[in-house]
Amino acid sequence: MSPIRSERLELVSMSPDFIDALLAERRSDAEATAALKLPDDWPDAHDTGFLRFRLRQMRERPEIQEWFVYAVVLPEGERPMIGHAGFHGPPGVNAVKAPDAVEVGYSIFEPHRRRGYATEVVRALIEWASREHSIQRFIASISPENEPSLALARRLGFKHIGQHWDEEDGEELEFELRISDGA
Ligand SMILES: CC(C)(COP(=O)(O)OP(=O)(O)OC[C@H]1O[C@@H](n2cnc3c(N)ncnc32)[C@H](O)[C@@H]1OP(=O)(O)O)[C@@H](O)C(=O)NCCC(=O)NCCS
Repeated sequence: MSPIRSERLELVSMSPDFIDALLAERRSDAEATAALKLPDDWPDAHDTGFLRFRLRQMRERPEIQEWFVYAVVLPEGERPMIGHAGFHGPPGVNAVKAPDAVEVGYSIFEPHRRRGYATEVVRALIEWASREHSIQRFIASISPENEPSLALARRLGFKHIGQHWDEEDGEELEFELRISDGA
């Protein structure tokens, strides 16, 4: 799969081979597979568990790779990975179970925050899903305490539509963006 490009960034889809090498501590193989430089402290225990789960899902259904996780890469020098982002799954897999919607997720590693990267990444994911798959409805689930993420969602035009309780993350506010609204 070719990377999704934005003004300053590349989103490189994490393939089963990449995740496999990462989880097996073959870090240089993982770096070569995805053409990026991994941060020394990633993945942590949480992300390791998350990637193991995604790997199992992709082995069962390889065609859903494009709806999972992307490494956020600065396309210069060593091509450092500065975060990860993507979708919770193909259309229909989202907090409000809307069949025509996809849910976005995103994380930028601490040293790279507050430069507008997350905003740029989410915008690029939305443009890609809209262009390649005609998706017009996007969901984000955000903790009420997560000020940076709430600010990002508002900036992109997401509207608060509800809330739910997540076993792992506690209370989460549900946001929706309909790009046919002209947002
Ligand atoms: C949320 C997150 C992805 C934002 O990444 P980012 O690249 O810093 O985001 P951006 O620079 O595009 O926009 C951040 C905006 O949020 C706001 N913001 C950022 N940090 C903030 C803080 N500590 N307090 C209040 N507002 C904050 C600002 O409006 C900021 O824009 P500004 O720098 O122009 O003022 C990042 O903080 C992160 O990875 N957090 C941990 C994982 C996470 O919470 N993911 C989202 C789950 S829903």
